[in-house]
Amino acid sequence: MVSAAPCAIVIFGASGDLARRKLIPAIYELAREGLLHDRSFIVGFSRSSLTDEQFRDECRAAVAEFGRTHPVDDAIWQKLLGRIYYCAADYGTPADYARVAGRLGELDGSHQTGGNRLFYLATPPTQFVSIIEQLGQLVPQDAPVEGVWHRLIIEKPFGRDLPSAKHLNGLIHRHFREEEVFRIDHYLGKETVQNLMVMRFANAIFEPIWNYKYIDHVQITVAESLGVGSRGGYYDQSGALRDMVQNHMFQLLALVAMEPPAALDAQSIRDEKVKVFRCIRQMRQAVIEQSTVRGQYAAGAHAGVSTDGYRREKAVAVESRTETFAALKLHIDNWRWSGMPFYLRTGKFLEKKLSEVVVRFRSPPLTLFQKQCQSPVFPNDLVIRVQPNEGISVRLNGKLPGGQMNIQSVAMDFTYSNTFQAAPPEAYERLIYDAMAGDQTLFIRADEAEAAWEVIDPIEAAWAKSAERPADYVPGSWGPAKAIDLIERDGRRWLHTTGEAEPIIACSV
Ligand SMILES: NC(=O)c1ccc[n+]([C@@H]2O[C@H](COP(=O)([O-])OP(=O)(O)OC[C@H]3O[C@@H](n4cnc5c(N)ncnc54)[C@H](OP(=O)(O)O)[C@@H]3O)[C@@H](O)[C@H]2O)c1
Repeated sequence: MVSAAPCAIVIFGASGDLARRKLIPAIYELAREGLLHDRSFIVGFSRSSLTDEQFRDECRAAVAEFGRTHPVDDAIWQKLLGRIYYCAADYGTPADYARVAGRLGELDGSHQTGGNRLFYLATPPTQFVSIIEQLGQLVPQDAPVEGVWHRLIIEKPFGRDLPSAKHLNGLIHRHFREEEVFRIDHYLGKETVQNLMVMRFANAIFEPIWNYKYIDHVQITVAESLGVGSRGGYYDQSGALRDMVQNHMFQLLALVAMEPPAALDAQSIRDEKVKVFRCIRQMRQAVIEQSTVRGQYAAGAHAGVSTDGYRREKAVAVESRTETFAALKLHIDNWRWSGMPFYLRTGKFLEKKLSEVVVRFRSPPLTLFQKQCQSPVFPNDLVIRVQPNEGISVRLNGKLPGGQMNIQSVAMDFTYSNTFQAAPPEAYERLIYDAMAGDQTLFIRADEAEAAWEVIDPIEAAWAKSAERPADYVPGSWGPAKAIDLIERDGRRWLHTTGEAEPIIACSV
């Protein structure tokens, strides 16, 4: 890879948590790898009153604490330091944008970026509309100059339902063409997630069996081991379905379920992902009650943190019905997946932090060992671990060494850290680089975001209408009992939840 073209990176929300933990360290890593152009510069834009010097100190501390590589390389840092600036301003005050525009103009000149600008909206989503309404002040509205670009990266969540996502898209398109818009879902920047496509489409062994005829079902789990912490105010307006399912989990689902794209370009890949969302079977109220589960964590303690329960968290309404856990059973009504279920679950305060996809294959047609073995042999699983310990495992049946024909499920394991002797780059490094390079493949297109909300909205509406509250669950468990029932009544079970070894099947041959 070569360094991207020089540009101004304007970070809205520069004093916030995401900027400190992810964005600034990612930009430093890009500089270290020679992928940030020497003439690119960064302007932080948020409310806190900071000088350039103070902001630079904060950035240095963020890189030292959250950077991927240690220690901070002083030579790289010194080169970057003089290219970091800060403007204290309020997003609700139009005059402040004029001030930022003036400063940007000066810096474009002194750094000779040619006027290329990358705007990164890393603010609470409640600020998106007012920022975008004012962005015209920072994006020259006259005829575009050949080769000069203005691009927008916008954080998740993108809207809170279909109408708000459409409204946001409409506003954005007043200032930016769709080719200039980069809706981020950082899961798409993770190596294992990108590897899903390589695994499916670069290996002949999977494609012929990647359908309802050979796969029994797919499970997607995105579990967090902690509660909402200090983010209760934001979370209570959102909930697990909007915060996790509509974006991260649906992106994983789309990559597992999509058809092979015509080419490896942004348009072809995103065309196929949109088709998946459009094929998800719409559910009526009665089906939603049967096929979805929501939960709220109760009082308890887990992972060294105790809680009085979700409804007692700071900034959460005492009567809140917001779900901190969601499980769904979905069907994708197309030729490949007809009749085969996809189970999704996500939640806070679950047993462990874990994001993975499990593809469970059907059992072999002839169970040769059935007569001799005390129980049926295990079906094969393909496990795609997004975090922690990024990698892929295939579970097979193997003979236990010894005189008897005893069978045990064994794993063929690929982990990034072991195979490549290095931790994969942070998702934000890849994504910021791609946006500077103008590659939209790993970003969400306008119609894709809207199609995902079209699936979510009826579920949210049915939950809002229902007299039932979300079911309580104990911190450190795998969610409410109803979520276990959701899959077990189909004769299946959630897999790999405890990490215990599969039992040995004793056979008398
Ligand atoms: N944090 C994460 O790990 C994470 C992960 C994935 C996605 N995200 C997404 O990233 C975005 C930012 O999240 P965050 O956790 O970084 O939020 P945060 O810590 O609350 O930071 C918010 C930032 O916005 C600024 N801001 C808010 N209102 C403002 C206003 N009226 N005028 C000027 N500045 C204003 C704040 O400035 P002051 O503090 O200086 O007032 C601060 O810099 C959200 O969309 C979130 O969903 C976050």
